[in-house]
Amino acid sequence: MRGHFITLEGIEGAGKTTQRDVVAGCLREAGLQVIVTREPGGSDIAERIRTLLLDPANVGMHADTELLLMFAARAEHLHRRILPALGAGTWVVCDRFTDATYAYQGGGRGLPVEHIATLEQLVQRDHRPDLTLLFDLPAEVGLARARGRSAPDRFESEQVQFFERVREAYLARAALEPARMLTIDAGREPEAVAADSVAAVRAHLVRAQAGQGAGG
Ligand code: TMP
Repeated sequence: MRGHFITLEGIEGAGKTTQRDVVAGCLREAGLQVIVTREPGGSDIAERIRTLLLDPANVGMHADTELLLMFAARAEHLHRRILPALGAGTWVVCDRFTDATYAYQGGGRGLPVEHIATLEQLVQRDHRPDLTLLFDLPAEVGLARARGRSAPDRFESEQVQFFERVREAYLARAALEPARMLTIDAGREPEAVAADSVAAVRAHLVRAQAGQGAGG
């Protein structure tokens, strides 16, 4: 059986790293092979592109350059790592994917959604996540958490208004695609958030098994 592609999304400080381990653990308990990866990055060349994208010294980067680098990194990651794993029956848990581009480059930077959709089609063809968990919380709460952790990267250096636009764009995407994208309130204690993550993954596993039984 082909593996499933699960992505985790949310603004900085939403607790995705913790939830990523929860999701991967839940899948492994179900006896599945799992890899955990991230974007931008996840393969050698993509990680080098990530360094360019996050370096605060690149503060003058044009928004179009940023968009193209996100998709350049994604092409490497998808073809070198994600698709081979899925083809081998491994489930892939990825910290961010193309919903982040719609949210950050679309919502945050104000780039046209059509440009993003064109690149998505070019790079991904029909490949889309099977399940996406959106960890949602107010921008100022997320930023306060993220900024307490380490020196801010190029994105974390943005103003709170930028992350408010990112959050709104994420929520708009979740409203458009409710079957794939589930919104979880990440403003609560990590244990409460984890309980929702586990419930979402278990429900997905039941659907996946039913689909398999039906010949899907
Ligand atoms: P991370 O800190 O969650 O690893 O993500 C790195 C940053 O990259 C984060 O601020 C969000 C940003 N990003 C985009 O702007 N567009 C994208 O498509 C992706 C995947 C990430």
